[in-house]
Amino acid sequence: MLTTETQSSQTGRQYLPTETTAPNQSLLPLTAQVNPYDRLEVGGCDVQDLVNQWGSPLYILDEETLRTACRQYRDTLYSTYPGESQVIYASKAWSCLAVCAMVGSEGLGFDVVSGGEVYTTLQAGISPEDIYLHGNNKSAEELKYAYEQGCTIIIDNWLELHLLSEVATENNPAQIMLRLTPGIECHTHEYIRTGHIDSKFGFDPSQLPEVFTFLQKHPQLNLIGLHAHIGSQIFERQPHQDLGGVLVNWLQTALDYGFKPQILNVGGGLGMRYTEQDDPPSIKEWTQTVAQSVAKACEDQGLDYPKLICEPGRSLIGTACITAYTVGSRKVVPDIRTYIAVDGGMSDNPRPITYESVYRAVIANKMSAAANETVTVAGKHCESGDVVIPDARLPQTEAGDILVVMGTGAYNYSMASNYNRIGRPAAVVVNQGESYLIIERENYQDLLRKDRLPDRLVRKSQ
Ligand code: LLP
Repeated sequence: MLTTETQSSQTGRQYLPTETTAPNQSLLPLTAQVNPYDRLEVGGCDVQDLVNQWGSPLYILDEETLRTACRQYRDTLYSTYPGESQVIYASKAWSCLAVCAMVGSEGLGFDVVSGGEVYTTLQAGISPEDIYLHGNNKSAEELKYAYEQGCTIIIDNWLELHLLSEVATENNPAQIMLRLTPGIECHTHEYIRTGHIDSKFGFDPSQLPEVFTFLQKHPQLNLIGLHAHIGSQIFERQPHQDLGGVLVNWLQTALDYGFKPQILNVGGGLGMRYTEQDDPPSIKEWTQTVAQSVAKACEDQGLDYPKLICEPGRSLIGTACITAYTVGSRKVVPDIRTYIAVDGGMSDNPRPITYESVYRAVIANKMSAAANETVTVAGKHCESGDVVIPDARLPQTEAGDILVVMGTGAYNYSMASNYNRIGRPAAVVVNQGESYLIIERENYQDLLRKDRLPDRLVRKSQ
């Protein structure tokens, strides 16, 4: 426990990474530093200047952190797994053209979960062989679209098997994998656990014989692999170690039925650091665990090494991004609490209100000031629960200060909304002192883009 005295000597500098910090263990992006004006810099850009240039709130994505995470996953899997391997990015964490293009240029493939994510990924120039479509209720249109484009489809349920078998042909079979629920429990938020038996995702393993029998009769569906994903923001390594063995057992069953699936996909799920209390394994440690567990299970059963895929989202992009807000109003409730409000909140980061997720913040223009005040950082939406950070330790702030929330790369932009008709913020990529707009800020006209006013509702001028 920190004493009050040590707490009050803390400053924004405490979150700066060291040279050896792993991307998913760093609160601030890897390039973060404090410049001579005592202001936070990311990717060589002064955060206050970025806000002046691009507006507020602003998502600031550090290219180097993102690329470093991609390379650490890719290179560790390549060097520790004896068979073929591929890292695919779970693009639900943040899907947009620039993110897909950067991740794709590091040689990663893509996990997508909707027609919209397939489309975004293809438009970013990713080749369909590197795209894997997930989802527990893909529509007939989504299945057809992904099939016609040549993506691999991860079949989740019976309906999808039937729908796809009607679309695919023996001459041009659909490349499919099966998602199964492994029955592995892990300690993470209930909403983001998926591997336990009572989950909406995937086939129950007891259904495997029936599924295999169906596939034997439907050559238009070519079974190329098996998949499982046990949850997200996981700090233990044991569940994924166990998962390797479970997947290899299923592989054996598939072989017994005469199939030759060449791919095992262990899903994603490695956690990242949102607060100094979070202690996830590093990308390298986690990837080694997965690689060794699958390799050993294959050796124990005398099987050839399948191609091994893992599909991280959060740990790949989460810490690469920060959100810069401008501090506005202040309300002091005597003897109870002080609120400071920022110009965004639950519409650009719905995670606190959805999962009670905890974040940390710094004041970008006061990086060395002692954090000697406890304030609740509130959003600007008409909802009491719209709190970005309860009881944050911060230096004295005033209206106009730039408050930076760390670790907002995963599931922030991708879950953002227009609640209260607030436009979604702009996003920039920063690299070596340059910033590049990757998502434009939504303006009032954007908010009306899909509104239609039937003639009978148009107010007549008097
Ligand atoms: N693969 C599958 C099949 C998944 O469902 C997911 C995440 C991933 C991979 C990537 O998991 P990651 O490496 O990001 O943990 N909106 C929630 C997280 C939902 C995760 C959904 N599936 C949040 O904001 O915490």
